[in-house]
Amino acid sequence: MTRAKRKADHITHALSTGFSGGNGLHDVRFVHNSLPETSLMEVDISTAIGELTLSSPIIINAMTGGGGKETETINRKLAQAAAATNAAMAVGSQMAALKDKAVENTYTVVRKENPNGCIFANLGSEATVDQAKAAVDMLEADALQIHLNVIQELVMPEGDRDFKGTVARISSISERIGVPVIVKEVGFGIAKEAAKELADAGVSIIDAGGQGGTNFSTIENKRREIPLDFFDSWGISTAASIAEIAQCKEKVSIIGSGGIKDGADIAKVIALGASAAGLAGSMLKVLKESGTDGVISYIETAKSQLQAVMTALGTPDIDSLQKAPLVISGETAHWLSERGIA
Ligand code: FNR
Repeated sequence: MTRAKRKADHITHALSTGFSGGNGLHDVRFVHNSLPETSLMEVDISTAIGELTLSSPIIINAMTGGGGKETETINRKLAQAAAATNAAMAVGSQMAALKDKAVENTYTVVRKENPNGCIFANLGSEATVDQAKAAVDMLEADALQIHLNVIQELVMPEGDRDFKGTVARISSISERIGVPVIVKEVGFGIAKEAAKELADAGVSIIDAGGQGGTNFSTIENKRREIPLDFFDSWGISTAASIAEIAQCKEKVSIIGSGGIKDGADIAKVIALGASAAGLAGSMLKVLKESGTDGVISYIETAKSQLQAVMTALGTPDIDSLQKAPLVISGETAHWLSERGIA
């Protein structure tokens, strides 16, 4: 199967599989504040991840690798929505374009549509320093995302089977790339031990990519004869993973992602310790159903919802929202207690 066909299958299966649910955010509750002393008009949702400043915490997360006409169209429309809303946007894995210059358009269209926007390049952790530099140069990217997707590769019939040397490669890239490196999972979460290794390797931003949203085990199992379907329920939920990574909060900024749907979810991931939120599957669904204008209004609605929550809590900026009191129950509370995270 060609890479372009496999990536097209991902889009179809991501849309048909839907969210697996259970990203742990239902276990997270804000404490109502009857005296917020805040005005909606004064709420400021601008934020920073590492050395990047963003006008809002909403990131259109990586989705479209592989090259091909369908992915180019999706990238063009998402980039138009990103430009209209001033949202940061990641492209999907650029490996296809590094191997075949003919498909570069799939990615460069994002910079053409959004010349001044904040754009993240994207490669897998098998990338070399030279490939990482080429991916960043291709887009004049503001940061590089490196995705970790061990479970997806293992379940993928034609996937990688050797995961050695990842930290060393990430460390060399972080040292020599010249833009911030964001290491991200794709729906299985990142634990505090891995987060510490990444922080020690020079990574300044970690995207949780937690369990409970798009599920690449379910997606890849659809294409296997002998299923590895026990991986369908594998992983660290989004809520638990953010709390895990927050154990390294002094060293890294966190992007909360994995099944994020609306402004209330975004507020929760920020209160758990994230500085921004990544949305992939939900953006793709809105794009397919309602096009570029649908994505624009989806992002603007999420911003208004976030502002409403911040007003209610009396947290007029992202820093204060990160300190809002939370009550955590259920499986997430159990996970955090077992893992020694208060
Ligand atoms: C993805 N994702 C992804 N991530 C990445 O780093 N490089 C990639 O090429 C892709 N490709 C991709 C294709 C499709 C169709 C989807 C839906 C997703 C993973 C994505 O960025 C994100 O980490 C996960 O989807 C979890 O977030 P959501 O979907 O639950 O918001």
